[in-house]
Amino acid sequence: MTKALHINFSATGNTGKIAETISQTLRQEGLDVDPVAAKDAANVDLLEYDWIFLGSGVYEWLPGKPLREALASLRKKYVESGDIKPASPRIPGRKAVVYCTYGGVHTGINEAVPAVKYMAQIFDHLGIDVAGEWYFVGAYHGKMENFSRVGRLGDISGRPDERDLREAAERVRGVLKT
Ligand SMILES: Cc1cc2nc3c(=O)[nH]c(=O)nc-3n(C[C@H](O)[C@H](O)[C@H](O)COP(=O)(O)O)c2cc1C
Repeated sequence: MTKALHINFSATGNTGKIAETISQTLRQEGLDVDPVAAKDAANVDLLEYDWIFLGSGVYEWLPGKPLREALASLRKKYVESGDIKPASPRIPGRKAVVYCTYGGVHTGINEAVPAVKYMAQIFDHLGIDVAGEWYFVGAYHGKMENFSRVGRLGDISGRPDERDLREAAERVRGVLKT
């Protein structure tokens, strides 16, 4: 059975909704999925899986802190083990997808791009091809809720919505064909 690891961080639930759809679709497509919260991600072995999905909300242009910390630990572990090699030779057949939800109130998608590129680097360093870099819009919650109506992306209240979730499912089906 094809094995997938799915790590995500979601502070206000938006990425969590997308993550649920992604995991559900992976299972519908016959994959065996291990879901792991960002706080536990430092202990996983990324090299055990055929597919890895990694997602986060965007905070100050980057993934959330628990995920950044886990990625820093993983990077250190694989440098020390020698699995991160100079020139990062490819490991055939291994693939990853990185995705975020973002609000983009100031500069739109540009303020989410660093987060996705940051998440992708652990895989690229290990020689795991990044088959997808996905962006989903996610409304602001709590004190920053008004940002959901006044920013560069217009009114994003209620996002991710049903249409975003359908898009996530379709993207999963698409990327598995690569
Ligand atoms: C404190 C804070 C900082 C944020 N920083 C950014 C940012 O730099 N870029 C961006 O596009 N969205 C930013 N957002 C919006 C979130 O990325 C968006 O709401 C996301 O969907 C949250 O995901 P989560 O609910 O899974 O944590 C920020 C939101 C908060 C509350």
